[in-house]
Amino acid sequence: MIRYHLATYGCQMNEYDSAMIARKLEARGCISVDTPEEADFIIVNTCSVREKAEETAIARISKFKPIKKKNPDLKVVVCGCMAKNRGKELFKKLKMVNFIVGPDHYEKIPDLLLGTYPTKERIFLEEDLEQNYVGDFAKIQNHFSTFITIQRGCNKRCSYCIVPYLRGPEKYRETQDVLDEVKMVADKGITEIMLLGQTVNAYKTKDCDFPQLLTKISEIGGIRRIRFTSPHPRHYTNELIDVLLNNSKVCHYAHIPLQSGSDAMLKKMRRQHNLEQYMSIIEQLRSKDPYYGISTDIICGFVGETEEDFEWTLKATEQAQFDSAFMFIYSPRQGTESAKEVETLTEQEKLERHGRLVELQNSITLKRNQMMLGRTEEILVERASSKDISEMVGKTDNFKKVVFKPQGIVRPGDYITCKLNDIRGWTIRGEMEK
Ligand code: SAH
Ligand code: SF4
Ligand code: F3S
Repeated sequence: MIRYHLATYGCQMNEYDSAMIARKLEARGCISVDTPEEADFIIVNTCSVREKAEETAIARISKFKPIKKKNPDLKVVVCGCMAKNRGKELFKKLKMVNFIVGPDHYEKIPDLLLGTYPTKERIFLEEDLEQNYVGDFAKIQNHFSTFITIQRGCNKRCSYCIVPYLRGPEKYRETQDVLDEVKMVADKGITEIMLLGQTVNAYKTKDCDFPQLLTKISEIGGIRRIRFTSPHPRHYTNELIDVLLNNSKVCHYAHIPLQSGSDAMLKKMRRQHNLEQYMSIIEQLRSKDPYYGISTDIICGFVGETEEDFEWTLKATEQAQFDSAFMFIYSPRQGTESAKEVETLTEQEKLERHGRLVELQNSITLKRNQMMLGRTEEILVERASSKDISEMVGKTDNFKKVVFKPQGIVRPGDYITCKLNDIRGWTIRGEMEK
């Protein structure tokens, strides 16, 4: 039996791609193993969005050196965004790497590893505008919930962001191909779907746009919860808001990146939305449902960000009352527009602003979690609690984690009802209703 080990960094789109690669390898008779020491093949799917993401992946790959020494037949593939970004330089830096494969060439990985690829090429980075992985479904990761990529690449050109250079322009997956994959997973018992794309709500094919796709998926038997990430504020149309609020299978939760609360910074970031437009989306969602879950991404210390700009970000964070936020320190990425500018803040100043924002958001997260107390919610059970295995963990429709003591036999994938009655630290606790 040929054994492969797959390590994934970066966003959920990389998770999906890794699952797609896994399925291809398994179709060729390979089996997955948890540790690189047991593997014949190692595949590392990488991210380049911030400097630190690359450093982490490089450090991990470096650790394979002694494994390769012990087993010279071991083959190592580096794929994903860092493969595309750093290219053949990686062969020099990481001598144990056999193949470097960019995001449009994943179908070659099994042949490369199994030695059946027709040429001796070792590096595949060219952009392929036709490559959309039609019919290439992903390996199911767990038996109740799965990611499904519906859009690849990105047409926006946010001035700080390297993603469009690595993933190329937007490509929308054919609607029928998406629906076929949803049907396939629903037939296997999956009830929750997370649709993926860098600007997922820009999805449009000749016969279907994003709100229509949500509706079509909601009509597939067995599907109970539909989520998606990341929507772009620019593409929140009235039709979309209507589906989000009125289709009972579409969850009341969204991750809507704000990036900055300052209009001057948003403009400089080329975000294609201002603060008012952003807030109007939140108002529309929360005026219908005050519990509508909203999370965001924010960059602290962008080039040229003044104290006043940053205070706008604090004010916007307060006003938006995000349920949670990913808060990043600006990291210049070579090749992007803003990396050409000289940074105006020291690392220390960026870090200090980041600390202030984290502190504010922590207090808001706690407040939003406390707001849930007293409610009775449907929970999709995910797993046993890592702290206490007699307890279990699941999520509400609005994406709140809830810990509860099961009554009778409860399995991951079950839907149960809990009365939310306590909070410990950040964590909401519920009492399961029999
Ligand atoms: N497509 C998504 C975001 C993908 S990248 C969107 O636009 O909504 C995920 C997040 O990383 C971004 O939202 C942004 O907050 C952050 N990010 C991207 N480039 C960055 C950089 N150069 N420095 C710091 N954070 C960055
Ligand atoms: Fe990057 Fe902007 Fe595209 Fe998101 S929308 S991937 S931040 S360029
Ligand atoms: Fe990273 Fe590429 Fe995703 S840069 S965030 S893995 S699209």
